[in-house]
Amino acid sequence: MESNYQIIIGANSEIAKAIADNLITHDTPHGETLILISRDLSFYETKRFANAIKIAVDDYSEAEIKQATELVSPSHLERVNKVFVCHGILHTALFSPEKQLASFNPDQFSQTLMANSLTPMLWLKHLVPFLSFKPCCQIVVFSARIGSISDNNLGGWYSYRASKAALNMMLKTAAIEFKRRAKNIKLIAFHPGTTDSPLSRPFQRNVPEGKLFTSTFVATALLSHLETYQADGELTYIDWQNKPINY
Ligand SMILES: NC(=O)c1ccc[n+]([C@@H]2O[C@H](COP(=O)([O-])OP(=O)(O)OC[C@H]3O[C@@H](n4cnc5c(N)ncnc54)[C@H](OP(=O)(O)O)[C@@H]3O)[C@@H](O)[C@H]2O)c1
Repeated sequence: MESNYQIIIGANSEIAKAIADNLITHDTPHGETLILISRDLSFYETKRFANAIKIAVDDYSEAEIKQATELVSPSHLERVNKVFVCHGILHTALFSPEKQLASFNPDQFSQTLMANSLTPMLWLKHLVPFLSFKPCCQIVVFSARIGSISDNNLGGWYSYRASKAALNMMLKTAAIEFKRRAKNIKLIAFHPGTTDSPLSRPFQRNVPEGKLFTSTFVATALLSHLETYQADGELTYIDWQNKPINY
């Protein structure tokens, strides 16, 4: 029987690497079913991933996204049963999440929206027309609980919070469209919990004991939860325990 393929976008994310590692199986010991897309694929230059399809991008402009999609052969795309979209920025060398409105600024807001909301939607725009796997191709987009408006009791982190709320709204809108136009697509907005990665590293000091997860733990949990979802025309917004999050 032919194997199915999995696409991991933003594959240099700490959690993405753990997903890739987890998807290696006895039958595909060198990543034969993985399609890895990132600006930095150095993690995958090992024997373990020798047979994965690797696509390097310079940035995530729409032109690069379209070109990267076209580099995957249609015969591979039609066998893709899982896609993971892992983009997320919270801080850069030039900015940190805003504690107060006085720190809010247009550059931070637009860069955060671009990476966290716009870029994932461009991947959906260009990939979904080619994802014909039946009965169900699951697309997991990394969101965050902080994107829940009803859960916002702490305030702060204006740009990151808004970017994930915007992402959730666009995913919900896409799910409604896919119910008509791409019935085999199952969209999942996933909150991994606070996970040890470059994104969370400066903010780990106050995380309660036992609440800072390893990327391996989160990847294992996510992949097991995916077994419980079929294409149903809905956006599922869940956390690492597979518990639904209110918008
Ligand atoms: N870690 C946590 O505690 C936590 C909590 C809640 C939600 N999340 C979400 O989980 C996802 C994965 O995060 P992580 O912890 O694995 O973070 P990470 O290791 O810091 O990875 C960062 C990811 O963002 C991408 N990225 C960085 N700058 C970008 C830009 N300017 N434009 C587009 N993409 C850019 C990277 O792509 P390249 O592969 O091209 O470098 C990579 O996929 C994110 O969506 C994050 O918001 C994480």
